[in-house]
Amino acid sequence: MSYTIAVAGKGGTGKTTFSALIIEVLKRRSVGPVLAIDADPNSTLGMTLGIDCQCTVSDIIEETKGLRNLPDGVNKPLHLEYQLQRILVETKGVDLLVMGRPEGPDCYCMANNMLRGYVDEIIKNYKYVVLDNEAGMEHLNRKTTQNIDTLFLVSDSTQIGLKTITNIKNLIDKLTFLVIKNKYLVLNRVRQDIQNLENAIKNVGVPLIGKLPFEDAVTNLELAEKPISDLPDNSLLLKSAEEIVNKIISSDQK
Ligand SMILES: Nc1ncnc2c1ncn2[C@@H]1O[C@H](COP(=O)(O)OP(=O)(O)OP(=O)(O)O)[C@@H](O)[C@H]1O
Ligand SMILES: [Mg+2]
Repeated sequence: MSYTIAVAGKGGTGKTTFSALIIEVLKRRSVGPVLAIDADPNSTLGMTLGIDCQCTVSDIIEETKGLRNLPDGVNKPLHLEYQLQRILVETKGVDLLVMGRPEGPDCYCMANNMLRGYVDEIIKNYKYVVLDNEAGMEHLNRKTTQNIDTLFLVSDSTQIGLKTITNIKNLIDKLTFLVIKNKYLVLNRVRQDIQNLENAIKNVGVPLIGKLPFEDAVTNLELAEKPISDLPDNSLLLKSAEEIVNKIISSDQK
């Protein structure tokens, strides 16, 4: 059984960075390949992980629409399954699948549904799946139930950030196609004492599982177009992410 971790939250607060940190922590543990899914139409997880990805699930859907008549002996389901295997980027410790940007109202077409079915099959091959999302999760496929073991809601440590994450959390609660076992709040880019934020944190309505410090090393890596895996072993940010991963994994194994 795979363990699915999803990351959501306000734009620009560190969802992709935190997703990449979780993946890095799991990778360093050699738990077997982790499946990273970039479910944000504005895909940047590959870049943060240092994995080059040229083709997305949405690209396959677009291409398949034009393929009314496939060559003899190739049926559409087989063709789609093959294409999906082709775009899954395999690297040491992490495989990456990029969902891309669904085009127009056809995004719930047959090809889409078939592909989502295959994605569900692929997920079963991994012990851990990490899903980086755009702000909320309303873009995920509504036709199949999405089972998520842990959802992290990422906020910056500001009153406005926490108010926004409260709204996002309330919206996610209304998405009945999502079955989420645990939800936690994560504060990112923490630089100062957060005492004044106690009430706003309480109002989010999910427990605060950890705080991630602001770290210059991340800015430097980003500017140099280097992956998160280049963070030094003594990175406080990496250590804080590791503590959070330990909490969810040990509580789940109890
Ligand atoms: N803890 C941190 N310390 C320093 N910089 C950080 C930290 N977390 C994130 N950043 C920086 O903040 C910026 C936004 O981060 P990121 O892309 O992870 O946010 P996001 O929520 O995924 O954004 P989007 O909504 O656009 O997908 C990036 O430049 C990233 O390097
Ligand atoms: Mg992002």
